[in-house]
Amino acid sequence: MTRSADHPIHPQFLTRHSPRAFASTQMSEGQMHQLLEAARWAPSASNNQPWRAAYGLRGDAGFAHIAATLADFNAVWAPKAAGLIAWASRSVVTRDGADTPNAWAGFDAGAAWGYLALQAQEMGMISHAMGGFDAAKLAASLHMPSDFTLHAVIAVGYLGDAADLPEALSAREAPNGRGAVGTWAAKGNFA
Ligand SMILES: Cc1cc2nc3c(=O)[nH]c(=O)nc-3n(C[C@H](O)[C@H](O)[C@H](O)COP(=O)(O)O)c2cc1C
Repeated sequence: MTRSADHPIHPQFLTRHSPRAFASTQMSEGQMHQLLEAARWAPSASNNQPWRAAYGLRGDAGFAHIAATLADFNAVWAPKAAGLIAWASRSVVTRDGADTPNAWAGFDAGAAWGYLALQAQEMGMISHAMGGFDAAKLAASLHMPSDFTLHAVIAVGYLGDAADLPEALSAREAPNGRGAVGTWAAKGNFA
């Protein structure tokens, strides 16, 4: 489908989507840092910046660790990405030596991932978040501290040929749609 907005917005919001067809093109460490830099500037509660990330570039050990934890339905396409990022947040804030829960950690980590996704697009790259992975295995293989929560694995790289995907997935490469704003936002209250 062709995406169209009901109200005028920047075209980046319509153009970004989550393909599964990745080209074999590699990405550099510098490009990965550009993506993470965009995430860095996301807003967060009390500017706590609770997002945490561990990444690998295809061919290195970090990438292999993340790829090995993907659910089967992601393992058929995501290991072709140029980079994989384990996206997490620190669920507590340390003040005066004491840890208190950060109720907004997941909210803030989500905002930061959104910034990363839009930066990828700005750089002519693609991104695709995944919830389908073995979180316990990933946390262990990445030596994740116990006060972190894993949210997603993010595949980043360059758009490839949809014809290289299994048929069931190539049919789903086209950008999908959204419910109209009026189906989830209302003036005055939630009813
Ligand atoms: C937290 C999260 C988890 C997701 N998990 C998966 C996944 O495991 N596998 C997959 O193929 N896509 C996954 N997606 C991609 C969504 O299906 C996709 O973002 C959604 O259909 C909207 O499409 P778009 O990103 O192309 O606009 C996930 C997206 C998010 C944000």
